[in-house]
Amino acid sequence: MALTEQVRKALQLASKQQPHSFYAYDLDGLDQHLAGLESAPAKLWYAVKANPLSAIIQSLDARGFGFDVASLGELKQVLAQGVDPSRILNTGPVKTPEHLADFIEHGVRIFVLESHQQADDLAKIAREQQIRIQVLLRVQLPWAKDPEEKMNVLGGSNPTPFGLTPEQWMPDTFTLPDEFELLGVHCFQWGNILCADTLVQTWQAAMPKLNALLDAWQIPEPVVDLGGGLGIPYAGQQQELDWQRVCQGLEQLKSEFQLGQCWMELGRYAVGPYGYYASKVADIKDNQGVHFAVIEGGSQHLLRPALTTQAFPVESLQPCDSPLTSYQIHGALCTGLDCLGSLQLPDSLQRGDWLIFSQAGAYGFTESMPYFLCHALPAELTFSQSGINVLRPSAPASHYLA
Ligand SMILES: Cc1ncc(COP(=O)(O)O)c(C=O)c1O
Repeated sequence: MALTEQVRKALQLASKQQPHSFYAYDLDGLDQHLAGLESAPAKLWYAVKANPLSAIIQSLDARGFGFDVASLGELKQVLAQGVDPSRILNTGPVKTPEHLADFIEHGVRIFVLESHQQADDLAKIAREQQIRIQVLLRVQLPWAKDPEEKMNVLGGSNPTPFGLTPEQWMPDTFTLPDEFELLGVHCFQWGNILCADTLVQTWQAAMPKLNALLDAWQIPEPVVDLGGGLGIPYAGQQQELDWQRVCQGLEQLKSEFQLGQCWMELGRYAVGPYGYYASKVADIKDNQGVHFAVIEGGSQHLLRPALTTQAFPVESLQPCDSPLTSYQIHGALCTGLDCLGSLQLPDSLQRGDWLIFSQAGAYGFTESMPYFLCHALPAELTFSQSGINVLRPSAPASHYLA
């Protein structure tokens, strides 16, 4: 997971131009990765929430991905990149009548229904405007509680507001409005699964209940949307996900359950490894036996470690041969929660050295809380063979304070 020489050089160049912490995205690496996903036996959508940066959306667009959008902001950002609305679907637990009307007005016609209320509101608009809508029913399955289960941002086996039980979507309980064409079902409850066998077993375990629902609705060539959940390695010793095994699992699912199509909405796996967060060391000190590296940035730019207690891989931008030692990395916020992990870094590390957090292309900047303590916003830039492109320079708090 160490930085390649090419990436290191690009980041070194960028760090010379940037006064503050920044995000950098490797567009050539991303494109090469996306090209390798084109053979998937599934229709691929990009979950824009993972990273809504324009250049990232453009890269996914160029590789034929559809777009899973969750808000009007995401929708407008995708449309602004020239994506046709027929390639957009809408998921999310909140779809107010105003939200639905906005989406319809912008040409979106595929919706993942998460409640009976959403179905009623959408049907009303479709009736008024005499349009047809394609829908998937979002299903939440009850799973036996695993005492070992770690905190999962998608809820895992806990009840969540994402979708309804299969029983609540059965034809004897739910009436499909005439304006809707039912394409299939959507089911997604676990994120960041790194073991392909576990992922495939989870899909296999869900299928009997999903299939009973598909049978009850007698959908010819149904779609099963499995969401995302494909993991990337954050800890050094972890192996990458076996993509070939994932593809085999999808083929197996399609033939065993006679599915028309599998869909996946990839976020983390699509873009995570192609983003880097860079921040300078502000101070190094010991306190009660703990060796601290305090950085200028922190959780206000990169919140995920505080949410999940999982660190991003970190290394020093300056290659150096000095022995490694353990540092607790903290950011600039006045809370003990602003800890970005306990990691090994050169013992020669000093103030002003840049640290690079990799795997930060997904759930990075827009998942964070950049306004807390009024520090500068990090810049976002891309690099590729054609050079460095700063899409948003760092901005001081005066840009957003009222
Ligand atoms: C509905 C939906 N689809 C897809 C994704 C993307 O998941 P991942 O990043 O695990 O691929 C998410 C993430 O929260 C989601 O909520």
